[in-house]
Formats: sequence, C-alpha cells, structure tokens
Amino acid sequence: MKDIIQVELSARRADLAACRTNMLVLGLFAGRKTLDAAASGVDRRLDGAIKRLMELGDFEGKCGSTAVLYGNGRIGAERVLLVGLGDQKQATLDTVRRSAAAAARKAVDMKVKKVSFAGHCAFGKRLDAIDVGRAAAEGIYFGSYRYDEFVTRNENHRPDRLRVELVDPDSAVARSLNRGLVAGRVLGAAQSYARTLANRPGNVINPPALATEAKKLARTLRNVTCTVLDERQMAAKGMGGVLAVGGGSNSKPRFIVMRYRSRAAAARRKPTVALVGKAITFDSGGINIKPSRGLDEMKLDKSGGIAVLATVKAAAEMELPLDIYGIVPAAENLPSGTSYRPGDIVTTFSGKTVEVQNTDAEGRMILCDGLSYAVRQNCEIIIDIATLTGACRVALGRYMAALMGNDDGLIKQLQQAAGASGEKVWHMPSGEEYAEEMKSKLADLKNIGSKAGYGGACTAAAFLGQFVDDKKWAHLDIASVEIQDKGDEFAAEGATGFGVRLLSTYLMNVAGRK
Ligand code: BES
Ligand code: ZN
Ligand code: ZN
Repeated sequence: MKDIIQVELSARRADLAACRTNMLVLGLFAGRKTLDAAASGVDRRLDGAIKRLMELGDFEGKCGSTAVLYGNGRIGAERVLLVGLGDQKQATLDTVRRSAAAAARKAVDMKVKKVSFAGHCAFGKRLDAIDVGRAAAEGIYFGSYRYDEFVTRNENHRPDRLRVELVDPDSAVARSLNRGLVAGRVLGAAQSYARTLANRPGNVINPPALATEAKKLARTLRNVTCTVLDERQMAAKGMGGVLAVGGGSNSKPRFIVMRYRSRAAAARRKPTVALVGKAITFDSGGINIKPSRGLDEMKLDKSGGIAVLATVKAAAEMELPLDIYGIVPAAENLPSGTSYRPGDIVTTFSGKTVEVQNTDAEGRMILCDGLSYAVRQNCEIIIDIATLTGACRVALGRYMAALMGNDDGLIKQLQQAAGASGEKVWHMPSGEEYAEEMKSKLADLKNIGSKAGYGGACTAAAFLGQFVDDKKWAHLDIASVEIQDKGDEFAAEGATGFGVRLLSTYLMNVAGRK
C-alpha cells in the first residue's frame, strides 16, 4: 500500500519577482483591468505577459480557474501559475483556502516539486495574516490529496511529496503566515487522515478494524485514551441499538470511545464536549436492502465517525485546554439470517424501546446509544455527525450540511465555525411536529417518520433529540457533503473529510484559541 502524498509547508519573506521556485502562484480577482502590486512587479519582468493573457480573455479570474505562464530568465520562477479568486467583493478567507487548494491540485497534476504561494497578496492587508497562513495550509493539504493507496501500477508517477512555501514581500506578514501554519498543518493533516480512512473500502475497514485504527491513533497522541467495547461488553451494558444493526454481519460491532483530557488548568473551566459519529462501515440497507445503483458509495457511511476520530486527533495535537469525548458506534449493516428485521422492537441503551420499521434507517439506531453514552458521562455539550439521510441531499443539494439542535447558542457557534472553516451548514428544523411523527403504537419510538418520507432529515434529527435529556445538543447531517462524485478544480473524487475543519474550529473557539 503506498502512502498518501506528503505535504511540507513553510513561510518566508521573498521578493516575488526574484523568488527562486519551480512555480510561483499569484492570485487574480475576476473582472479587474489592472494588476495589484504583487502581480504587476512580476508582470513587468515578464514583459506584460500576464496583462496580455487577461486582455485576450484567456484568463478571467473565476474562482479556482488556473493558467500557466513560463519564466523568461528575468524572474526567479520557472513557471507562474495564475489562480482565479473570483469576485473581489465576495472574497473571504475561504477564497484563499480554495485558491490554495486549486494551486496545489494543479501542482500535483503537473508534478511540480516546489511551489511558492503568493495567492493571498492580491488581498493587500484586508485579511489577518495568521488566518491566511492557516487557511492556505488547509487548502494545500486539501487540494493535493488524492486516494490511490491500492493502485500498484505506476504509469503516472505521482510525486510522493509536495513542498509549498507561503511567500510575502513583507517580513512581518511572513512571520504571521508562519504562525498560522501551525494550526493549518494540524487541521490539513487531520482532514487528509479522515479522507484516507473513509475512502478505504468495507473489506478493509470493518468495525473491529476501525477500532484497531482508533487505538493506533490514540497511541500517537498525548493525553488521549481509547476504550473499545466488543459485542459482549455492549450486550452487558444493554446497547441494543448498536447490537441490532451490527447483528447481520460476521464482522461484529464495536463501541469506540476516545477521550482527550487536557492537563491544563483552563480545561477545568470549560464544558465537557462529546462528539458522537456514525460509523457504518458499509450500509447495504440490511433486510430493507438498497437498490444496487451507487451502493459502493455506502462504504462512506462511516464518515461521521471518522470525522470524530480526526477531530480528536487535531484537538490533541493542538493541545486545546478541553475535555473531549469522541464516541463512535461502529457496525456493518448487512442482510443475513442474524440481521435485525422490520417489525423488531429494540431496547436501546437509554431504556427507550424502538420499533424498527426500516432496517436502512440504521444510523439513528446506533447513534442513539452513542448519545446516551455521552449523557451518562455527563457531557454538557453533545454534537453528533452522521451521513444520516438521503433526504438531506434532497433538501440541500451537495453544497452544505444540515444543522439541527435544541440550543440556539450552540447552533450559532457552529454556524460561526462553519463560516470560518469554509465547511458550510444550513440550520433546519427538528422540533415537536417532527418528534410527534416518530412515536410508535407498539414501542416508545419508531425509526422512520410517518409522512411518506417527507422531511426525512428533520424527522431523523427529531428521533435523535429524544436521547439527549437536557443536554445542549446539535446534529450535523453530512449525507449531502461526504462525497465528491467527480474530481473538480479543488478536490479529488471520493471522501471529503467534511466536518473535521468545522468541528476543530468550533473546539478552538470554545478553547479560546485562534
Ligand atoms: N446511509 C444512509 C443515508 C445516505 C443516503 C447517505 C445517501 C449518503 C447518501 C442512511 O442509513 C439511510 O439509508 N437512510 C434512509 C432513511 C430512510 C429509510 C428513512 C434514506 O435516506 O433513504
Ligand atoms: Zn441506511
Ligand atoms: Zn446509513
């Protein structure tokens, strides 16, 4: 198995025209007739080649678009990559992140070894340079990533590492960029870790294998422990939801608990946060089996649980002064003689009973036990993340995740973290009307709504909301964003690692860390 591309990041002061590099990256806003100071210095030495390219209409500055120019011996760079920043009025920190991703993706395609990124210079002093350093780092990890662990043929010789330096003519800015790289590297690497684990197929990552991976991860981190319950231990505790879903597979379910507990005194003044992630290592639907189209995508049904593992990794590496539980119920949903069936009544860890009306609505059956576990640990804040419903895709398309919850303050904090991290969310309802639909005549609850699938993302959230007692709780349905169907200018196809940046940013905010 080969390793995922290795990224090496640094930052330094450099005169852009003189900067010696395989590829200098400049950012250009759309529809601008004049070049900013950074680009015009380079353009002058290139005898106006950048201007001519723009005048010919060959490069319009659309966000993520790129064009390559070649050095003429009078600039330090062998190549100049122009990367579009889109409309200047709409540009934000995420524009830097996306332009860095597009540049890194292009550099890997072109097998360029060393890149000097100055895409942020077009912004002048509008953005905070520490934030820029962090966002650029995240973008570079994101854009350079591709998943080819199992490809043994070697026709294309992708480089095994990419070196990127952030460059800026101002030495104070360069120092701040460097500071931003510290968190940027941690978050970028955590998201790539999540993408790799999620991309691994169901025959490689089953529940016991995921548990082994979590234990391995915990060993590499300071102040992190990992406890794994096997099926017998789960039975002793009465975790009926996870056991029901996992019953059909020969790979038995696992209940993974990561705990990061900072030793810093400040951690004692912060609320204990539980992150609960759905890890269905493959979702066939079970006895209510899914149609065959796109079924292979259901290896990504573990993405929420993996986002939790990767976020714990990031929090521990940043040594955030917090106490965090990462709770990951893991099961494989398969049809067999030992599967749970439609009509079954399951007693969950909370004691509440659930009538199973559809075995394909399995995510909520494992998450409810995860939520109850968080309640029993007395976590003040509980956030779950799951590829929970196809209805979420119907509602939102493929651009953002659904966010529900029972606490306005927590919703606002997550919206704020979404804005800063570039992982978008949309607040959706999950209140009493939806909860009403989840009542069963035969048990306390049933696992699907009543109204012919309408509002499926909201009824699913309302079901989960029955298991959090009086705790502050939020739910992220990431079924809309967990996969990139086809590669585009920013991202390779496959798992996106959505949630890692969002949840890590949220935790950094709780910890009061920039
Ligand atoms: N894992 C799926 C949700 C999903 C669908 C994720 C498409 C990503 C892409 C989930 O377990 C599921 O099957 N949900 C059902 C619920 C229904 C039976 C109430 C669904 O969405 O159809
Ligand atoms: Zn399902
Ligand atoms: Zn599922």
